[in-house]
Amino acid sequence: MSFQLLHVDGGARRGRLVTPHGTVETPTFMPVGTQATVKTMLMRDVESTGAQVVLGNTYHLMLRPGADRVAAFGGLHRFMNWPHTILTDSGGFQVMSLSALRKIDADGVTFKSHVDGSMHRLTPESAVDIQLKLGADIQMQLDECVRLPADAEAIARSVTISLDWGARARRTFLEAGTGRLQFGIVQGGTDPSERARSAEGLVAIGFDGYAIGGLAVGEPQADMFATIDVTEPSLPATSARYLMGVGTPGDLIGAVARGIDMFDCVMPTREGRHGMAYTSEGKINLKNARFATDDTPLDPAIDCHASREYSRGYLHHLVKVGEPLAATLISWHNIAYYQRLMADLRDAIAAGRFAEERARLAAIWGGGED
Ligand code: GUN
Repeated sequence: MSFQLLHVDGGARRGRLVTPHGTVETPTFMPVGTQATVKTMLMRDVESTGAQVVLGNTYHLMLRPGADRVAAFGGLHRFMNWPHTILTDSGGFQVMSLSALRKIDADGVTFKSHVDGSMHRLTPESAVDIQLKLGADIQMQLDECVRLPADAEAIARSVTISLDWGARARRTFLEAGTGRLQFGIVQGGTDPSERARSAEGLVAIGFDGYAIGGLAVGEPQADMFATIDVTEPSLPATSARYLMGVGTPGDLIGAVARGIDMFDCVMPTREGRHGMAYTSEGKINLKNARFATDDTPLDPAIDCHASREYSRGYLHHLVKVGEPLAATLISWHNIAYYQRLMADLRDAIAAGRFAEERARLAAIWGGGED
């Protein structure tokens, strides 16, 4: 078994996921490394934050530099200099969000590259093959994610097609016999019965872990939490659960309380590139004039070079003049803050004091409501 459930406190879970490139303590947050880089950062600095797994994207890497090129370099771990666990997304979601022209049929999806307009195709089988070439420790099935709000028919169709693609992806993956891991993706919009049908169908196929997809696409946080609540009972307690593309610290706090083990989001790095920092006291905009003369460190409570060794006034200056070092330092700090948040939640679950820790953090970020 790749996943071990160590402690349960209320709905929250403390677990451990073992992959070919290491051990991942859960709940965990995965920094996003879409194009074989966590934007603006050195991988040794990402490692210094305590991150144990990063995410890569099939969609981007199949277009540039191509899966065969990455394979020729010995796979993504060696190519990007990250020796720990890598999870890759399957491309289904990025085709929907990035490609202006796409056509889904029962067999797969044909799309126009957002880079140069060339035409490409992904099928459940080719998405497995590409992720095998990339060398992902954890790969995701190809799925179809609908934009919300969506009508009942579109939601049901995406569940049906994603289940069929899940079965085909699983067959292809098991035939390859790699000892790596593959996760199925639950769809179903905000419809409870479609979420249950999707989750139960995937569990019947039998994956190494289960993701909840199709959320954080503009719906209110309460709808996202309600959807996790109706999905979670259909997922086996003995498998890891991954909430895709989420989220704010408050989203993470509320989702951990509902039994989610894994997260990824561009937020700490994207916001970092725009001068926004997640700190122990809340979110701050370093562009703000009040930081111009602030000689205190960004966040002394976080054990990170970027958080402790640079003043808010210096970071304000870098942001104002548009120096790239601002993006590097604030992204680094933000990832370190997210890692600290997850470590605090893990420690609290293990010690049976999750409710108190959730209340402390929710006072800063939200996510405290049941
Ligand atoms: N990333 C965020 N949401 C999703 C989703 O629904 N499917 C996939 N494949 N990736 C995602």
